[in-house]
Amino acid sequence: MHDFKYRERDLYCEDVLIQDIAEEVGTPFYLYSYNTLRNHFLVFDEAFKDIPHMICFAMKANSNLSILRIFLREGGGLDIVSGGELYRALLAGADPQKIVYAGVGKTREEIRYGLESDILMFNVESSQELFLIDKVAEDLGCKARVALRVNPDIDPMTHPYISTGLKTHKFGIDIKNALKEYKLAESLEYIEIVGIHKHIGSQITQTSPFVEALKKIILLAKSLKEEGIDIRYLNLGGGLGITYKDETPPHPRDLAAEVIPLLSGTDYTIIFEPGRVIVGNAGILVTKVLYTKFGEGKGFLIVDAGMNDMIRPSLYNSYQEILPLKRDTTSHKIVVDVVGPICESGDFFAKDRVLPDLKRDQLIVLMSAGAYGFTMSSNYNSRPRVPEVLVKGKEFFMIRKRESYEDLVKGEEIPEFLYL
Ligand code: LLP
Repeated sequence: MHDFKYRERDLYCEDVLIQDIAEEVGTPFYLYSYNTLRNHFLVFDEAFKDIPHMICFAMKANSNLSILRIFLREGGGLDIVSGGELYRALLAGADPQKIVYAGVGKTREEIRYGLESDILMFNVESSQELFLIDKVAEDLGCKARVALRVNPDIDPMTHPYISTGLKTHKFGIDIKNALKEYKLAESLEYIEIVGIHKHIGSQITQTSPFVEALKKIILLAKSLKEEGIDIRYLNLGGGLGITYKDETPPHPRDLAAEVIPLLSGTDYTIIFEPGRVIVGNAGILVTKVLYTKFGEGKGFLIVDAGMNDMIRPSLYNSYQEILPLKRDTTSHKIVVDVVGPICESGDFFAKDRVLPDLKRDQLIVLMSAGAYGFTMSSNYNSRPRVPEVLVKGKEFFMIRKRESYEDLVKGEEIPEFLYL
C-alpha cells in the first residue's frame, strides 16, 4: 500500500501533484509520503500488539531526520550501525533507551559514544568486540548492556549481497559457539547480558527463514537459562521484503501469526529492526528525461539521475518500476535502457524496459526508492546529492535541500606548495 496514485492522467503523492513539486525544486529529487511512512510503521507495530515488543527502525534504510521523527513520534526506536547514525538518532530526538547498535566493526570511539549516550544495547558480533566493550565500559565506570548477535546459519533465500545469516557470512557469532561466548560475556565485569540478536538478511519474501531462525534462538535462550543466564530481549532483526515487481512478501500480520505462537509461555520483549518494509514503497525518485537516443537495435532514455543517486539497480540488478509522471494515453511503446549521466556502463536504472514513448523533458519516477536510495547515494562524478521532499496531505516540505557545488568541496584544502 502506498500513496502514489494517478488521478486522471497525473501522478500524485497524497493530494499533491508531483509536477508542482518538480517545478519548484527541480529534478532529480526523492519524494516521500508521510501517510505511507506512518501507516507502514503503525501496521508493523499493530501486528505485534499482543506481545511485548519494540520496533527499532533500521535507519540505514533511510536516515533523514524528518523521516526518523515520524517513527519516533509513534513510539519507535532505532537500529543503528555507526557513530554517525547515533548522532543522527539523538539529533532526531530518539530515546537512547530505544537504540540498539549492530555492526561487525564498531570502533573504540563509537563504543564510547554509545556508552556515554546510554543506548539500550550493543549487538555484539565477536569476542574481541566484547572485550573492547568491557574495557571501554570499565574506563567510563559503567556497565554495557549487550546482546550477542548469533548467526543461525539459515539461508534467507535472497540476493547474495544482502543475505547475512549463513555461517559463511562475516556477521554475528556462530550459533554453535554461542553458549561459550555468552559464558565469556558473563565473566566480564562491565558487561550486562540482556538479549540475543539475529538478522539473517534483507528483502526476505517468505516467513520460513524467520521462523527457523527464531526456533533456533529460542532454543539458545533455553540453554542460557539452564546455565543461569537470563535474558530479557530477543531481537529478531529486520529483513521483511517488499513488492518491487511481482514478489509477494508476507504481510507483517502473516509474520506475526507465525512468530507469536512460538513465543507463548515466554515473557521476552521482542525487538524488530525493520527498514525496507517501512520506507521502501513510501518513497520515489523523480527524474527528467534529458535525451533519447536510438541506435542499431538499442534505445536509451538518458535521465538526469544517476547511479550516484540510486545505486540499487547497478549494485544488485534490482528491479525498480518506472512510471511516467503523465500517464500515457496512446498505445505506442518503446523498449529502452534507462540510463544516467555517469561515465560508467553500470549506470542504469532499467534494461530493455517497455515504456510509453517518452520524449525529452518528460518526467518519470522510479518507484520503491524510499529504502537504501538516498542513504546509499554519493557525490560520484562530483554530482551534488539531490533534495528530499516530504508530502503530507496537500502540503509538501523540503526535508533536505539540494547540495551545492560549494558543498562538494567542503573540507578540502590545498596545501601551500601546490600554489607555487
Ligand atoms: N538489522 C540489521 C542488523 C541489518 O543489517 C539490516 C540491514 C536491517 C536490520 C534492516 O533490514 P531490512 O528490514 O531493511 O531488510 N542496501 C541493500 C540492503 C542492505 C541491508 C543491510 N542490513 C539494498 O538496497 O537492498
